[in-house]
Amino acid sequence: MENSFSGKKVLLTAGPTYEPIDPVRFIGNHSTGKMGYALAACFAAHGAQVQLVSGPTNLAAQHPAIQVTSVTTADEMYEAVKLLAEDADIWVFAAAVADYKPKVAADKKLKKSDAELTIELVKNVDIAAALGKQKRADQFSVGFALETDNEGENAKVKLQKKNLDMIVLNSLRDAGAGFRHETNKITIIEQEATTLFSLKHKDEVAQDIVNLVWERLHA
Ligand code: CTP
Repeated sequence: MENSFSGKKVLLTAGPTYEPIDPVRFIGNHSTGKMGYALAACFAAHGAQVQLVSGPTNLAAQHPAIQVTSVTTADEMYEAVKLLAEDADIWVFAAAVADYKPKVAADKKLKKSDAELTIELVKNVDIAAALGKQKRADQFSVGFALETDNEGENAKVKLQKKNLDMIVLNSLRDAGAGFRHETNKITIIEQEATTLFSLKHKDEVAQDIVNLVWERLHA
């Protein structure tokens, strides 16, 4: 098969994370996980063994070469990823990890007793950045970014900060791109290259990303 990933192991994060406030409430985001699941399917179709660490989604991975680990919070996602990272050749961080979590999750449902409620938030672990510190020269990593301004520059900073080889930039300026859409318009930023793609279905976007990763691994 063309662009074969046969013998390669891919570790992917996908979906949102939910950070509990109390037993019935959480902080989350609108990520559906579609982009991550499309990437998992695409890598698997090209012969890779895929470990998909997924936050809460309605999606199911169909390919037998995809093994799913379901998690809820960023901390759980990090723990799962840590166990799988060393063994993987390619890391793809497609999850929309919540940047903050409540400092304490109440063990009983919060009552609406006061007119105001303040929830103290603390930063979550940056999974991509933490993993970036232990990346070997033979491993390749891909991250995602969502920028509204200074897109290229901000993406370059993220590339370095998280020790990524490639960053897939979603622009919110483009109609039909990003959360809750079937389509996406991406720009792939690397240290020495910027590649622009047109608006397309997320399955085709996944194929574009997989193709470029393959090219870089075979350069
Ligand atoms: N990421 C992660 N762990 C986090 C936050 C982000 O692994 N706690 C990964 C995402 O999966 C994605 C990339 O890092 O690949 C996104 O980085 P982030 O700094 O969160 O970028 P934005 O979402 O664009 O947000 P911001 O610019 O507000 O930092």
